[in-house]
Amino acid sequence: MTKTLLLLPGDGIGPEVTAVARRVAGRLINQGLDLAVEEAPFGGASIDAHGVPLTEDTLARALASDAVLMGAVGGPQWARQSYDTRPEAGLLGLRAGMNVYANLRPARCFAALAEASTLKRVFVEGLDILFVRELTGGVYFGSPRGVETLPDGQRRGVNTHVYTTSEIQRVARIAFDLARTRKGEVVSAEKGNVMEAGLMWREEVQALRDAEYPDIKLSHMLADNMAMQLVKYPKQFDVILTDNLFGDILSDEAAMLTGSLGMLPSAAIGDAGKPGLYEPIHGSAPDIAGRGVANPCASVLSLAMALRYSLGAPALADKVEAAVEAALNSGARTPDLGGTLTTAAMGDAILAGL
Ligand code: NAD
Ligand code: IPM
Ligand code: MN
Repeated sequence: MTKTLLLLPGDGIGPEVTAVARRVAGRLINQGLDLAVEEAPFGGASIDAHGVPLTEDTLARALASDAVLMGAVGGPQWARQSYDTRPEAGLLGLRAGMNVYANLRPARCFAALAEASTLKRVFVEGLDILFVRELTGGVYFGSPRGVETLPDGQRRGVNTHVYTTSEIQRVARIAFDLARTRKGEVVSAEKGNVMEAGLMWREEVQALRDAEYPDIKLSHMLADNMAMQLVKYPKQFDVILTDNLFGDILSDEAAMLTGSLGMLPSAAIGDAGKPGLYEPIHGSAPDIAGRGVANPCASVLSLAMALRYSLGAPALADKVEAAVEAALNSGARTPDLGGTLTTAAMGDAILAGL
């Protein structure tokens, strides 16, 4: 049966990098993949066309597809928009609407890029970390939230970090299951030294491990220490489990270990059988948008993750990843990796491997 991939190109460099992933999907379709590729408005582009970042129609189409590939959202032109109508709110709404509570962010350093990182080769060569970031809870979603003006004229801003046992267990289960396919080790990050909800996170993760995953080696690390350890000796980590906020920050940090933020793909998944949301971890990069120089690798690698986790084509996922690796081995580089190729030319180099 034909599977459906819904593209949400979004804003800034989002459409530029998604165009390359679309060409890769087109090549696989020409080679026999039974896939229909569709597109819908999202983010700032949807605000401009429809007044809201996520229309009911786009959410319905996302839920009806097998996989969604998002580009990036946001930009200065929408930054003065009221908070809940900004492009970023549309992305949070899409994640919640699709119930994709586990965000897999693999930080893998391709051999050809061991010199592209700002860290020395010896620390990043062979690096292969998998972040499992909780994606639909925590401080990005908790209430109360908002800004109020106090009687004395000051403003008071509030966001609430909140998790329940089941929210922690379902994402931890995914981390433990994935660890079983890797080294059987998980490090969980929180701030249990100063946050009650952080200590509870630690206790719930440990209790689940003790009850259901005695074969997994679980350790806990305070998130500030983890930020330091990631640049001190990153290869100590295999699977890292985090809440929504710490996972957002630590995965951007880890991206630099792989050479560029433009290299990191992600897969947001939920309960089995439901569509997944695939997206580069980078944003809309307003500083380079429109110049055709963005690195498309994260988008293409996100397509590979969609092939693996939602489109039932793991062999094609391997093939796409191998094509990215071959392009890098041949010396193809966008400016963020120290090269001079345009986004489209980097796409040509990847397609050459398919
Ligand atoms: P960003 O990730 O857009 O950019 C950070 C830096 O990395 C910039 O210098 C940028 O040029 C560079 N960069 C990012 N992706 C790149 C790529 N593929 N190739 C080459 N260089 C790349 O973060 P920001 O500037 O803090 O945020 C810009 C906007 O994007 C904001 O509105 C933010 O909310 C949004 N954002 C969206 C997402 C998303 O849609 N998933 C993620 C992060 C940020
Ligand atoms: C990311 C982004 C998003 C997040 C924003 C744009 C909502 O930073 O995907 O990493 O914070 O999750
Ligand atoms: Mn982020």
